[in-house]
Formats: sequence, structure tokens, C-alpha cells
Amino acid sequence: MKRRDFIKTSALLAAAAGSGELMKAAAMPTEPEEPADGPLLVSAPMLQNFAATSIGVAFAVSSLANGYVLIGEQPDLSDARKVLCGGYRVTDIDDRVIRVRITGLKPATQYYYRIGADRIQYDGGYRMKILGNEEDPHIYRFTTAGAKGDAHFCVINDTHARWEPFGLAIEKIAELAPACVIWNGDACNVEETVEDQIRIFLKPDIERKDYASETPYLFCPGNHDDRGMANRHLERVWMFRQPEERLPRDWDLGRNFAVRQGDMALIGLDTAEDKLDTNPIFAGLFTSGPYREAQTEWLRDALAREEIRTAPYLVAFCHIPLFDDNPRHNPGDLAPADKDPQYSTDFALWQRTCAQLWAPLLEEAGCQLVITAHQHRYRYDAPTDNRSWAQIVGGGPEMGSSGSDSKRREDPGEFPTVIEGRIRHRRLEILVHNLVTNTIQDRFTFRPRR
Ligand SMILES: [Fe+2]
Ligand SMILES: [Fe+2]
Repeated sequence: MKRRDFIKTSALLAAAAGSGELMKAAAMPTEPEEPADGPLLVSAPMLQNFAATSIGVAFAVSSLANGYVLIGEQPDLSDARKVLCGGYRVTDIDDRVIRVRITGLKPATQYYYRIGADRIQYDGGYRMKILGNEEDPHIYRFTTAGAKGDAHFCVINDTHARWEPFGLAIEKIAELAPACVIWNGDACNVEETVEDQIRIFLKPDIERKDYASETPYLFCPGNHDDRGMANRHLERVWMFRQPEERLPRDWDLGRNFAVRQGDMALIGLDTAEDKLDTNPIFAGLFTSGPYREAQTEWLRDALAREEIRTAPYLVAFCHIPLFDDNPRHNPGDLAPADKDPQYSTDFALWQRTCAQLWAPLLEEAGCQLVITAHQHRYRYDAPTDNRSWAQIVGGGPEMGSSGSDSKRREDPGEFPTVIEGRIRHRRLEILVHNLVTNTIQDRFTFRPRR
């Protein structure tokens, strides 16, 4: 701060407040730093929580900033309104990630937007000011969800901050141009800092930095997205759904989604950790059990919602599979410590508890397909007499052991996938894209539910 500015600020403070505390604060100036060089906006925006009447926009900043989004229906933003970061009362100034929650949108409607931020100097109390402003010169666009929207999604999973497979997935998505992408968990590994999370979601080390600026994302966390101190509050980078989108009962269910998109209803669930809360290595720091039960009540209500109930196709997404017929695969309910010699791992390869809680509801609703992840091996489980829904397990980040043919024969599902869902001739068509061979691995067709 320049001396001249300080005097002006002090005089204003004295005149405005006259309080002893404030006078004291004003009388003890610290010499603040000059504005840092370099840009304030340091990432492209990411569209989070695709929905019919709202959207989240997140972007990274280099120093303390009061961010905003200008949004309107006109391509030149001549009708734009300005939405500040955070909710009511005070804005959510931050020195790393700006999160803007935009509500009051129309379903299946194209919007244009631009991001911007004021660089803020804050020295305590009323000693705060704007040092400058930056706006991204680029105007982006996106379309909200809705029954009249384009029924077309893509799924990625188990990206684990591995940039080669992630980059391939993003290029495939750019080619397919879906209405939305479901990121089906294990985006992270173990993240201890917000910077690590920013690198994964907002500044990934791939060519297409604006990968989520026009393609909206939904997120079903995986077990790795709960790991590390920073991931205990992943919502600082990957924001929660808007509060008005959930009941007070579901206040803490910030990620579950039930979105109507064309003839499809898309349901997002969180299978949580792959070990029991009682496992001693968790030191009592996890509460996956009650979280899964709370989601059961949410799911029951979501499936009954008019726009969800009337969709011809119901597709659910969650990270850990809800079915597995391999007798060596740990079902995730071996109390207290997930260990039993009959199973090949001491963590869950599938989630029997979640299946018992959620599958009856999905089955009753006529769900055709559950898309899962976690095992790092692509697999398709066809419906049976006892299970009316099909399951697809998405592939992992491994690129087939450096392409060795013998290894691929050993692990036929070991390749990253993009799972595409779309409506063709009034049927739900699923295409599984193999990112190693850049071919369509499998194609499945589903009939409308009753
Ligand atoms: Fe994984
Ligand atoms: Fe996983």
C-alpha cells in the first residue's frame, strides 16, 4: 500500500467507524505487499454439478480474489448478470479457488458466460480494497440439463492423476461432444493439499486445459477421493450441489445427483471408502456406514420425483461395483478389519452393503444399467433372472502393461475406457471406447423401462 492510500484509508475508517478498536487497528499500519506480478486467473473455468436450473463454476486464482461469473443467454453477454462467489451475506473470497454457484437458470437452455475476479488486499477489519480486476477474454457456453436436452453422456473413472490416459479420455470426450460427463471416482490418489486438488481438477497436465469449461461435469467420488487431509474437504475445489437442490435432511449429501437429461434419468451415488469404518487403519476417522444409509433415503425420494420417474431410461452411477460373482472378490462387509483368507484383497472389490441398500430401489424403479468403476478392469455383467439391471465396470488407468500382448491376454479388461451413452432410434445405446486401441470395445442396447 502506498503512503497516500494508507492516509486515505485511515481517514475513512476514522470517519466511518469511530470505534476504539478500529482506530487502534488503523493506527498500526503494516506495510502490505505490492500486488503480485502475473495473472490472477490461472485456470480455465470448470463446470461442476450439471443440473436443470443451476450450475457451479470453479476456477483457480493466484492470490486473494473476489471472483464472479457474468452469465446470460446472448452470445455477447449483453444481457449478462453478475454472480459473485459464495452465497448470501459475504462473498467467498479465496486465494486459491473461486467457486460460483449460479441458480435460477432455465432447463435445456444454452448460456454464455465469462469469468472474472477482483484482486483483493485485505489487512484486517475494514482495511480492504480492490487492487485490480481481471476477466478471461474468452466467452464460454454450456447448456443446462432437462427433459428437452440431448440425451448423451460420457463416463470416465479411475483417472488417478495419470495424465496420459486422462488426456486420451479428454480427447475422446471432445470428439464425442456429450451433454455432460460423469467422473465416476478415483480422480485422486491421496491428496494432502488444495494445490494437489487444483492440479487434478482445475489445472491438469493435459493439452486441453479448458476440458470442462463448456462440458459440464458430475462427480461420483471414489474411495481415493476421500483420502488425504485435503480430500476431507474436497468441496473447496469440487463444490457441493446447490443447497436448494436438497432437503434439509440431505444437507450433507452434496454430491448425489438425480438429473433428467432427454429420455434418461441419471442417478449419482457415492459408495464411499473401500474399507469398513471399524478397520483399525482408519483410526475412527471415517463414517461411510451412515453416509450410505442416508443416501438410501435420498435415493428413494429421488426415484419418485416426477422428471426421474417418467424418464424411459434410468442409469445409475457409483464408483465401487454393486455386483460381482467372483468368489475371491472381497464384498466390503468383513468386520472389523476387512480381512478373510478366502478373498484376494483386504479391501472391498465390490460393495455388498450398498447393493443391499440401493439395488432393491433401483430394481423396483426399473433401472436398466449401473455404471461402476474401481476394479481397473473393464467388464460387462449382463442382467440375470435375479438381477434386472446390467452392470458395466469401467477400465482403469493402466495402458495394458506397456502394450505387451501377453499381458493383455492375461488381463483382457486392462485398458482405460470412455463409456458413452446416447439415445438412438428411441433405444439407449451404450458404447464402450477402448482408449488404448482407440476402438469401440463393446456396444449394448437397452429397451425403455415399463
Ligand atoms: Fe481406482
Ligand atoms: Fe477405487
